[in-house]
Amino acid sequence: MEPSVMESDKSLLEIVEEMRRDIEAAGLGSEQEAEAFRVRYLGQKNGLVTNLFKRIREVPPETRREAGQRLNALKKLAETRLDDARTQLRQDQSQDRAAIDLTLPGRRPSPPGSTHPLTTTLNDIVRIFERLGFVVAEGPEIEDDWHNFTALNFPPDHPARDMQDTLFIEASDGGEGGIMLRTHTSPVQIRAMHAGDPPFRLIAPGRVYRNESITYKSYCLFHQVEGLVVDEGVTMADLKHVLFTFARTFFGDDVKLRFRPSFFPFTEPSAELDIWWPLPDHPDGGRWMEILGSGMVDPNVLEAVGIDSERYTGYAFGMGVERPAMLRYNIDDIRILYENDVRFLEQF
Ligand code: PHE
Repeated sequence: MEPSVMESDKSLLEIVEEMRRDIEAAGLGSEQEAEAFRVRYLGQKNGLVTNLFKRIREVPPETRREAGQRLNALKKLAETRLDDARTQLRQDQSQDRAAIDLTLPGRRPSPPGSTHPLTTTLNDIVRIFERLGFVVAEGPEIEDDWHNFTALNFPPDHPARDMQDTLFIEASDGGEGGIMLRTHTSPVQIRAMHAGDPPFRLIAPGRVYRNESITYKSYCLFHQVEGLVVDEGVTMADLKHVLFTFARTFFGDDVKLRFRPSFFPFTEPSAELDIWWPLPDHPDGGRWMEILGSGMVDPNVLEAVGIDSERYTGYAFGMGVERPAMLRYNIDDIRILYENDVRFLEQF
């Protein structure tokens, strides 16, 4: 039965006694119950215990002192029960949090990082040329038509200038004047020669982009290392010497090499370097593979950047990084270099 301060047929002391039993029996197993208990008995406005204090005047003077003591004890009891309940609830909660499920599988540490095979290959190539006296130069990946094509002696109707081959950021009517993702590292030659005076002996490693269909052997982006040497009296013999030295250092002293005539708009004469790659299953026991393009810098290119082509000559070369990396690591699909599959990457 609800003890009510309004029940005038019961003495205050009887009510106190009933309430004491209720308070002792109250369930306080949750924060909601504890809060309801607080409001019910100790609430500032209408708490049952709070209200009893207001009735102390009704008690005859001779028992008023005792009634006061009993009321104070009741209040104390309610407060203690509430405090204890809340302490207990907090403890239960932190125990829940600390509970460890020992049957859960452990967390795997993430695999340690390692250098990407392309980066390793690129660094190795750069290091070989640095030992031959080359310094690293860089240029932007977003290039304008002049640096990527015009200054490199590409005729206006050259197929590389077509949307089919080049990823344009801003195309332009009539071939010239567009903005594009560079299709090779050769524009770095132009930037370097434009910015300084001969002699030059530089390599320019970097990413290049082409609108290729993506297959096991071609991708829309890849890496090149460009080389440029310009000085008085530079000849094709210097070019051949440097490239053969590079190839023997990179692929091994016994690598078979072939220098094959070729064509590039910005070099004259031009040559490609092939290496013989032994393949046990191949009917010929292996096959020639092209690894770079090269040639003597075309006088038109030197003149385009204001270098006297009567006084200076030079050579240039450009090699892909993907093919040497794939040969070296026995990778047969170029796409895997760009997928960032951890099962592949963790092998390096
Ligand atoms: N830029 C040429 C290419 O991307 C390679 C090259 C560079 C050829 C320098 C000759 C000289 O195919």
